[in-house]
Amino acid sequence: MKPILLITLLSLLFACNNKSVDSMAVNDPHSAAEFDVATVTSLDWDAEIDFENQKINATALWRFKAENGAKIIYFDTKNLNIEEISDNNGPISNWKLIPQKHSWLGENLSVPIDAKTVFIKIKYTTSQEAPALQWLLKSQTADKKGPFLFTQSQAILARTWLPCQDSPGIRFHYKARVKVPPGMLALMSATNPTAVSPSGIYTFEQKNAIPSYLMALAVGHLSYQAIDDRSGVYAEESILKKSVEEFSELPKMIVAAENLYGPYTWGKYDILVLPPSFPFGGMENPVLTFATPTIIAGDKSLTSLIAHELAHSWSGNLVTNANWNDFWLNEGFTVYFERRIMESIYGAEYAEMLALLGYKDLSSTMLEFGYQSEDTRLKLKLDDRDPDDGMNDIAYEKGYFLLRTIEHEVGRSAMDTFLRRYFHRYAFQQMTTEKFISYLKKELLSEEDYLKLKIDQWIYEAGVPENIHIPKSERFARVEKSVVDWREKKQLSPELTNTWSSHEWLHFLRNLPSEITVHDMALLDQQYGFTKSGNSEILFEWFKLGINKKYQPCFPSLEQFLNTVGRRKFILPLYKALLENDYVDFAKRVYSASRMNYHAVATQSIDAILP
Ligand code: BES
Ligand code: ZN
Repeated sequence: MKPILLITLLSLLFACNNKSVDSMAVNDPHSAAEFDVATVTSLDWDAEIDFENQKINATALWRFKAENGAKIIYFDTKNLNIEEISDNNGPISNWKLIPQKHSWLGENLSVPIDAKTVFIKIKYTTSQEAPALQWLLKSQTADKKGPFLFTQSQAILARTWLPCQDSPGIRFHYKARVKVPPGMLALMSATNPTAVSPSGIYTFEQKNAIPSYLMALAVGHLSYQAIDDRSGVYAEESILKKSVEEFSELPKMIVAAENLYGPYTWGKYDILVLPPSFPFGGMENPVLTFATPTIIAGDKSLTSLIAHELAHSWSGNLVTNANWNDFWLNEGFTVYFERRIMESIYGAEYAEMLALLGYKDLSSTMLEFGYQSEDTRLKLKLDDRDPDDGMNDIAYEKGYFLLRTIEHEVGRSAMDTFLRRYFHRYAFQQMTTEKFISYLKKELLSEEDYLKLKIDQWIYEAGVPENIHIPKSERFARVEKSVVDWREKKQLSPELTNTWSSHEWLHFLRNLPSEITVHDMALLDQQYGFTKSGNSEILFEWFKLGINKKYQPCFPSLEQFLNTVGRRKFILPLYKALLENDYVDFAKRVYSASRMNYHAVATQSIDAILP
């Protein structure tokens, strides 16, 4: 090849590469959407919820913007039955469903468009195998008044109940009309009703543009109680009062968050307490956080989870990771923000305990994955993987500790000014790791600071850089000392333990010597009643220990827990521990009785580990 030709070719190639780095339009490896060609801007969703057949019959009318000459718009779908597609000129026949290269991506829906196409209308039904949806029977709810349905769209499950461009980098407004059986309340991530509609028809609107993973729906026999005029709780009647009490600090949290990083721009902030099968602790659906009932401990000790979901109203819902490789931008920032909210309400001593528990979580995840594992990098490469694989403590805690370490270097006031401006500057936009780095260099760190803080190592390399700023907690230091005391005297002084929060108890359990005997466990149980604890985090820690030590007296309670709670963070490690400790038959028996109480997100993970 002539050198001149080679140079021209190379420079052409380079120019193309540059284009994809500079322009916003970088496609998402987990979506069929073509960012440069045609992307959606708004949705009108009309749906009927059919509990008898456990399916949703719906039409999705999408408006979009397209480049001149665009011929096709692509949507993501998975397990949907597409019945009919039309546009503003009438029915379309030559649309196609094309299986994608990985099963988790589903089928790519291609629909022809031209300059005259204003909207695309897709009539479809969901299938029994829609992993975003969990249909609960009457018997699986708290009040047993009727069935229940909820969705979980993050990361790429929205496509299983809505044909959409399922990328966090694409945003749209939506309106919806949803018909449900009489007596039931329907809620979405939008303006919500507070009372049952006699017709069973509800209308919704979300005026802020949101990505598809924040699409959410719940239908059940639910009631509402306001906490103040901006926030309140939806729950089944029998747990409503308890929930409202547990979340009574919510208005304070919202004010604290606004004082930190700017106004809350979503209107109301309500919490929906779901049945215990909800697979996560919480999900930051805009306007309406979905929450597990396992945080209702009776003493507000687990409400940092609410601070977390609230914080997502800025980090995640306003400034959104461009795709799932940048997941740490959503979660790491949110954990940082969450701990700042907790600090402003409960003080630094309290927040440092939470940070130290997080540090322990980070250390155990590092040990589990291996400090050299590529999965311990902040910027992920999930292109040929299910994004669910990347959703672990690394994004949360390594992300948190990066921001904490930066704060330690630049000081709080500079950090807060930086973050406030960041949320304002990039509101309703997508964010990549690289864009964040360039903003960080422009607004906060000199080149010298950037190198000194080892930011590239934090983001692009495995493990934890040695400049990590580790929390110190006097209260936890006292707990560690009391573990030593307990080993010697087999008792703790009540003056000490009377002042302990559940975090201190958790730290106590996590620090018990690994050679603890069944006899000592029985003694501890007798003294402090761990097997009967009403705090799910404590129960979880105790059960893990009980399984490892083969402490039989906790097994009936463990079985009961596994049978009702579907939160993956708890049940997956418990099943793993059972398998590792020769409780295969027990695990299989309990799982086969409980599986119907779990959401697909959880069963997918547990199915993969059970023999
Ligand atoms: N957005 C996440 C939940 C999520 C992450 C769902 C990835 C699907 C894929 C939510 O904000 C979250 O982080 N929940 C945590 C609680 C939090 C306090 C760490 C959870 O559910 O445990
Ligand atoms: Zn989160």
